Amino acid sequence: MLRRDLQGGHDSMVSGLELKKRFAIRAACAAACALLAGTSPAQQDLAAKPVFSESEIKIILSHGPWPAPAQADPSNRVSGKPDAIDFGTRLFFDQRLSASGTLSCSSCHVPERNWTDNLTRGVGMSEVDRNTPTLMNLLASRWYGWSGASDSLWSQSLRPILDPRELAATPRHVAQLVRDDEQLSCRYRKAFGTPPSAADDEAVLVDVGKALAAFQETLASGRTPFDRFRDALAKATEPPPGTYSEPAQRGLKIFIGKGGCTACHSGPNFTGGEFFATGLSRFAPRGQPDPGRRDAIRQLMESRFNLLGPYNDDPTGASAARTREASLEKAGFGEFKVPSLRNLILTAPYGRDGGVETLAEVARHYAGLDPASLHAKDGRPAKPLDLTPREQTDLVVFLESLSTFSNPWRPDDGGQCH
Ligand code: HEC
Ligand code: HEC
Repeated sequence: MLRRDLQGGHDSMVSGLELKKRFAIRAACAAACALLAGTSPAQQDLAAKPVFSESEIKIILSHGPWPAPAQADPSNRVSGKPDAIDFGTRLFFDQRLSASGTLSCSSCHVPERNWTDNLTRGVGMSEVDRNTPTLMNLLASRWYGWSGASDSLWSQSLRPILDPRELAATPRHVAQLVRDDEQLSCRYRKAFGTPPSAADDEAVLVDVGKALAAFQETLASGRTPFDRFRDALAKATEPPPGTYSEPAQRGLKIFIGKGGCTACHSGPNFTGGEFFATGLSRFAPRGQPDPGRRDAIRQLMESRFNLLGPYNDDPTGASAARTREASLEKAGFGEFKVPSLRNLILTAPYGRDGGVETLAEVARHYAGLDPASLHAKDGRPAKPLDLTPREQTDLVVFLESLSTFSNPWRPDDGGQCH
């Protein structure tokens, strides 16, 4: 596990040092690789087309293939089932799920906005503390929410239903809606094989979460220019001319080398799913410090809906192991989940508190060229990478190449349930 590798189970100061060492090693490697390629680092920087070493190609290949193969969630007995996906789709857009009858999941997770809202922080009945994340590519996640307060997609889906700032509903409200509405109860029956329980509100609520999860599991972002470049490298062929620009290739080289980004933004979805303090988001966006992962572990262990609880459908119990481990996890204050970097051009603003407007600003943050603003931010400052303005631009062009403008999801009318 990445986090354990980097931190060795110690506190965040140690992890900072470890990480810096790792950065230094990577920077040294980047320089060495450039020498191997027969140019000095300075010449390499000026060369229009970067050359990738064997070890760099290995890292690039680890960011694919895309789409990544997906497996059903063992903790959710309707994961991957078409009838549950259909039921979950209706629920996701149904405003009657909220106490006021005016809000749905899609009020904040808007399909046309890549399943986010482009606001600084989400607004339901009132404003919440954090930026609304996209719902793309969640299937293989280990933790949900910016601080990982939920250990399954279905339990994460219950939080906004009950949160007074979001849909502000109760288990009773949701269960009655599903029982009383002919179409919803018909779809429930098809998805779960039985009618909704007449007496147990909580059981119906949890199944609503599981149907919502089945729908969200289907949301995956498309293939990008980076994926085509990566696959061409895998086949050891030249990518078709014009498919991947030289600035994007230079940015990729920084991302996997000098920038050290791959240490946290790893794998096909550009996240290892673990928790770090980077100082990208402000410490106390609304005057209230956000303790992040440290608080989330307590919330997770206290939740009736965690994978150690009665609603985990996995008969082997294997899926609960990670939750048991989490109770022993030592999280530093202000650590947050590493987000995916796919489809970023559609999901501004950035960071857990939504305070970062553009990718250029992200690059500037990581480049360490903005020391004044670091004082206003939390945690240890990122190690100054001293990226030149051109390197920062290349990095942004690379980040943009992880996006596609096409959003394959289209609503359908779902027909009538009989
Ligand atoms: C008021 C706006 C709002 C509404 C309404 C809302 N969400 Fe969210 N959603 C958020 C915010 C903000 C977060 C981040 C929460 C956190 O980190 O604590 C989030 C996080 C999530 C995540 C975790 C994503 C990840 O990357 O880990 C999922 C899944 C999710 N919401 C699903 C839903 C579902 C399903 C509904 C409807 C039942 C819903 N949301 C309604 C704003 C909203
Ligand atoms: C130590 C782990 C770590 C490293 C190294 C790292 N990141 Fe991040 N990254 C994070 C975390 C954690 C967040 C969320 C921070 C927050 O909002 O508080 C984040 C957020 C981001 C975001 C915002 C995404 C969004 O949807 O809001 C971008 C873009 C990003 N990183 C790019 C990079 C680039 C480029 C590099 C290399 C220069 C890099 N990261 C290196 C951990 C890391």
